[in-house]
Amino acid sequence: MARLQLSEDETTLAKRNQSRYANVDAAQLLRDCFEGGAQEFRRRSIDARVAPAGLPANVKVDRDLLGHVLHSIVINATEATAPGGRVTGEVRARDGRVEIRTVDTGCGIEPEHLPRLFNPFFTTKPRALGIGLTFSRLAVERFGGTIRAESVVGMGTAMVIELPGA
Ligand SMILES: Nc1ncnc2c1ncn2[C@@H]1O[C@H](COP(=O)(O)OP(=O)(O)OP(=O)(O)O)[C@@H](O)[C@H]1O
Ligand SMILES: [Mg+2]
Repeated sequence: MARLQLSEDETTLAKRNQSRYANVDAAQLLRDCFEGGAQEFRRRSIDARVAPAGLPANVKVDRDLLGHVLHSIVINATEATAPGGRVTGEVRARDGRVEIRTVDTGCGIEPEHLPRLFNPFFTTKPRALGIGLTFSRLAVERFGGTIRAESVVGMGTAMVIELPGA
């Protein structure tokens, strides 16, 4: 009985979120996110830029939720990157999918940490909760997409989100 109640709640939540879905240009959302971080990038002497948009890259999502995900990922990239480093963003539409990629020249991720990145409360930071990527994966999967990290220690990290095109 309790379990049935829980799934009803989840259905209601999913419906409410879907009613907020709209066609969003992922490239514009990423540019907005980088613009919002401009002051912080300057303060840390990080060269941050979004590659020029190619084809329109519309996705059907809750704009606030995806904006929050991108913000969280860009913050991670910024925190990992030393002054003089680079954070870049790129959006590509192909084969009915939209790929949002952020790449940093930061510290990278230890191979043994990679499988735990998206686990709740996994963090290597002294004063963090470790929920940014957990939340990001939940949100992206709700939009029918995937998120993954590619990283080389000492070289940097790419976070890649793939979403169905709208
Ligand atoms: N771009 C990145 N470069 C290096 N390590 C990263 C990067 N992104 C994530 N990580 C690693 O993954 C861990 C988990 O990230 P996540 O965003 O979930 O939590 P957090 O940033 O530690 O805390 P929170 O986001 O809750 O403030 C980080 O603590 C860090 O070790
Ligand atoms: Mg984080």
